[in-house]
Amino acid sequence: MKKLIAPSILSADFTKLEEEVRAVQRSGADWIHVDVMDGHFVPNISIGTPIVKSLKNLNPPMMDIHLMIDSPEKFVSAFIEAGKPFVKVITVQVEACRLLYSTVTAIKSYGVMAGVALSPGTPISSIEEILPYVDLILIMTVEPGFAEQKFINSMIPKIKRLRCETNNSAYKPLIEVDGGIKLDNIREVAQAGADVFVSGSGIFKTEDYALTIQTMRKEIESK
Ligand code: DX5
Ligand code: ZN
Repeated sequence: MKKLIAPSILSADFTKLEEEVRAVQRSGADWIHVDVMDGHFVPNISIGTPIVKSLKNLNPPMMDIHLMIDSPEKFVSAFIEAGKPFVKVITVQVEACRLLYSTVTAIKSYGVMAGVALSPGTPISSIEEILPYVDLILIMTVEPGFAEQKFINSMIPKIKRLRCETNNSAYKPLIEVDGGIKLDNIREVAQAGADVFVSGSGIFKTEDYALTIQTMRKEIESK
């Protein structure tokens, strides 16, 4: 499968969001990663359905919506509705979702991919029972809540273990990584087995998005 690059718009310049989205789209972004934070599950507040609704008017790349909010099941339909038909994935944090099975099933009932995200301290074993039902597993490589944090190196063995487990399993969810991914570590993360690479500041804080994304792609493919 083609490896995918998903710039996180949390690091974009919000005074010119349209330009920023179009720029990463032209530069070869596969998905747009949308970080939703509620000030409860994480100590930060970011963006919600109005921004998703505006983004869809730009004919954007497909959106990968990462819900870092408590009780995400309450908001799944609102985000899907807001971004229709550009919502590719809705990912919920397993730590924030008490009804994981019904939430994942609800996401899929809209024809959207269902993702589950694991914070750095959450073990892979916590998603064992949901594995047959998910389309994507997001390994957080920083504590969720903020952009521009340092990649946690001990997440590399975690990604490798998950890759190994899915290789040996009948279920083949995509493995996504998110947090502190930059040009200087993306190759190692690719070697560990990731399929989808989220990068916020690693793309939006560089001068030339096209050059950054192309170089990231080379790094991923030369693994
Ligand atoms: C962290 C978010 C990430 C983050 C990525 O809570 O889920 O998507 O914004 O930003 P960078 O790549 O700067 O760590
Ligand atoms: Zn994210």
